[in-house]
Amino acid sequence: MDLSLLFAALLLVSFRSASAAARPHVVFILADDFGWNDVGYHGSEIRTPNLDRLSAAGVRLENYYVQPLCTPSRSQLMTGRYQIHMGMQHQIIWPCQPHCVPLDEKLLPQLMKEAGYATHMVGKWHLGMYKEACLPTRRGFDTYFGYLLGSEDYFSHVRCSRIDARNLTRCALDLRDGEEVAAGYGGVYSTEAFGRRATDIIEKHNPDEPLFLYVALQAVHEPLQVPDRYLAPYSFIEDLHRRRYAGMASAMDEAVGNITLALRRRGLWDDTVLVFSTDNGGQTLGGGSNWPLRGRKWSLWEGGIRGVGFVAGPLLKRPGTVCRELVHVSDWLPTLVGLAGGGTNGTKPLDGFDVWRAISEGFASPRLELLHNIDPLYVDVAQCPGTGRRVALTEGFGSGFNVSVHAAIRSSNWKLLTGYPGCPVWFPRPGHNGSGPGSDPLPGPGSDPLKPVMLYDVEKDPEERNELSAAFPAVVEYLLRRLQKHQSAASPVDFPADDPRCDPGPAGAWGPWA
Ligand SMILES: *[C@@H]1O[C@H](CO)[C@@H](O)[C@H](O)[C@H]1NC(C)=O
Ligand SMILES: *[C@@H]1O[C@H](CO)[C@@H](O)[C@H](O)[C@H]1NC(C)=O
Ligand SMILES: *[C@@H]1O[C@H](CO)[C@@H](O)[C@H](O)[C@H]1NC(C)=O
Repeated sequence: MDLSLLFAALLLVSFRSASAAARPHVVFILADDFGWNDVGYHGSEIRTPNLDRLSAAGVRLENYYVQPLCTPSRSQLMTGRYQIHMGMQHQIIWPCQPHCVPLDEKLLPQLMKEAGYATHMVGKWHLGMYKEACLPTRRGFDTYFGYLLGSEDYFSHVRCSRIDARNLTRCALDLRDGEEVAAGYGGVYSTEAFGRRATDIIEKHNPDEPLFLYVALQAVHEPLQVPDRYLAPYSFIEDLHRRRYAGMASAMDEAVGNITLALRRRGLWDDTVLVFSTDNGGQTLGGGSNWPLRGRKWSLWEGGIRGVGFVAGPLLKRPGTVCRELVHVSDWLPTLVGLAGGGTNGTKPLDGFDVWRAISEGFASPRLELLHNIDPLYVDVAQCPGTGRRVALTEGFGSGFNVSVHAAIRSSNWKLLTGYPGCPVWFPRPGHNGSGPGSDPLPGPGSDPLKPVMLYDVEKDPEERNELSAAFPAVVEYLLRRLQKHQSAASPVDFPADDPRCDPGPAGAWGPWA
């Protein structure tokens, strides 16, 4: 062969592999309400062999944060922005609220699409659906199969919700294929329906085109429902909630195994970056556990926000490592768009950082600070053992920040909380001390009254047992000023009243009404 031809051929080969590496397939699997102590590799009694194996060969994120609730984590994943910048700092989007992630926010799938990706979504949306423009198919996804709300029945796919001030409850189907109601899945367990759709997409995908697949599984959110075959290995768990939850987690683990197997079979795996993440901490009232962390879902304690997460795939430069760098759910948008070789043109100012080199190569995270949230309307809706422990709001501070407001911020090793952070209990490890999740907490420092401003060194003290505000007043002052700065840039809370027109009627399905 002529030398120049050989050179050209080599160039072509290196260009091809460079471009493949520049545009890997991205598969993002989001679990719902999966707690810190619910994954095998954190020492759980729940068996998650696929998650354990994948993460062991990938990079486990052990200083990884999500938001304490569903809609907020998902909105930050999709926008790369803090929810205080969208007016979404309060709670979730309830079924009848005429609300969705603001339509002037550009979402992750739109950016991936601009970078040349095929974009598919399977599972839970929960980012608003009152009008068609809010639907996933109008916001960047080529295809969608899933449900728009949350908390439905895993088999019937029916969601019951109060629809008006007369407290009329409507139970209606919430499952769509594209924008059409999907009526043919009654009796099919959602973890299997979504797992199968994800593997179908992979099997039909043209390997020459980069794939962005977002799988937002229903597992392991309440209601606690699971086919019997997943329960059999857990007869040793006495607490029925925990046993069912464990079975649900096993089904989820199996779905993740099926998805990765499909990627290998289709020949996509070598060019895939797979992210697994929970959306928030476990709900102890629904079988979840965040032991030994404090609190749970709905709270700004570590149990609500320190998430299970890892990245897998052969493109990681340091596979088999643990990343202890600060990473947040808002970081995925710039990170994944960066991997896609795309741009963030058209987004509003991002709060997320590109953390790829921190994860893949062990570099320091570019993220130095993390605003967990500021919610001036916070109420804890679920029953919390020992809820008499409200905050005594007596102290005044010089920062201008209203310390009665529910807020938390992280900076390096420090975490500051103000107001009532949510259920402050250290729930015992399931099956230990003769008590299951949801039972009364162990006696301990948790019975002390909460202070309006609390400071923890969460690097040394992830269980938030040693409150240090009195010892480090300068740190407190600095973080309160940071909170005040964030609050002064926040959008007003947008939490509209229910619109009774949401009612899909006795034979209808939940969906756009406006
Ligand atoms: C509807 O339910 C709420 C909360 O449970 C209650 O406060 C309210 O009085 C009820 N309204 C009617 C009309 O029954
Ligand atoms: C995984 O794949 C197997 C084989 O196709 C199937 O029987 C099983 O239902 C799948 N599991 C889930 C959770 O999707
Ligand atoms: C950014 O987007 C705008 C419109 O959305 C477009 O006019 C402009 O050309 C884009 N710039 C780049 C660099 O892609």
